[in-house]
Amino acid sequence: MRGRRFNKDQPSSLPSAVLYAGQKEFYRQTYESSPSAPWDNAFDQDWLKQTLRKLGPGKGKRALDIGAGRGRGSLILSANGYKTVGMDYLFTPLADAHSLCRDRRNRPSFVNADLFADPFRARSFDLALDWGVFHHIRRKETGDYLRALKRSLKPGGVFLLGCFSTNFRHKGEGDRKRNWLIHKGHYDRFSTKKELIRIFSPSFSILSLAETQSGFFHVSMKLRG
Ligand SMILES: C[S@@+](CC[C@H](N)C(=O)[O-])C[C@H]1O[C@@H](n2cnc3c(N)ncnc32)[C@H](O)[C@@H]1O
Repeated sequence: MRGRRFNKDQPSSLPSAVLYAGQKEFYRQTYESSPSAPWDNAFDQDWLKQTLRKLGPGKGKRALDIGAGRGRGSLILSANGYKTVGMDYLFTPLADAHSLCRDRRNRPSFVNADLFADPFRARSFDLALDWGVFHHIRRKETGDYLRALKRSLKPGGVFLLGCFSTNFRHKGEGDRKRNWLIHKGHYDRFSTKKELIRIFSPSFSILSLAETQSGFFHVSMKLRG
């Protein structure tokens, strides 16, 4: 299976630094141009709520929302008792998130930082959530992502991932087989169940892995050791 460009606006050989700079700009423009984002309805909030319920109370535990955006996931984590940090490399959505939850008890805090810059002390978090960062990371940078993720978690920490499966389709995309695309200036990777198991199972025990009808995987896993 090979990647194909959906929009012919970027060559596939684009250096990662250039690709990721364009991607960050795409997010910035999206947040600055509208109070809603295309991913606002991506990922199953009920799945997150049910999974947290199964894990038990979050009181006394710390959670990290990686790429928090306007804080949808952070709010669910803090409502379940976790002392939550929503991290995003853009300030604008975090400012919106902050205003949204100003009046809440146990409100999340928000940190403007890049996951890859290791902004927190190692082993700081009991749980990490990624809704929409991993699936915009090129396969060749999977190791960098895993390193940063594992560094942030305590041993035995839980990782909750939402990401595109190969069955996910953008509107009007067609049904050609592909495992990546450059779409509207940002990179999408599409995973199979087998690939996710191959990537995560050397370091994590997979607790559950389910695919939604619209082509999202929801995975819960636990860092070994
Ligand atoms: C697809 S959006 C999802 C936002 C949010 N998780 C949600 O579901 O509403 C991805 C978010 O990750 C942020 N992001 C991407 N790469 C990041 C990185 N390396 N470090 C921190 N934030 C990042 C983007 O700014 C954007 O807000």
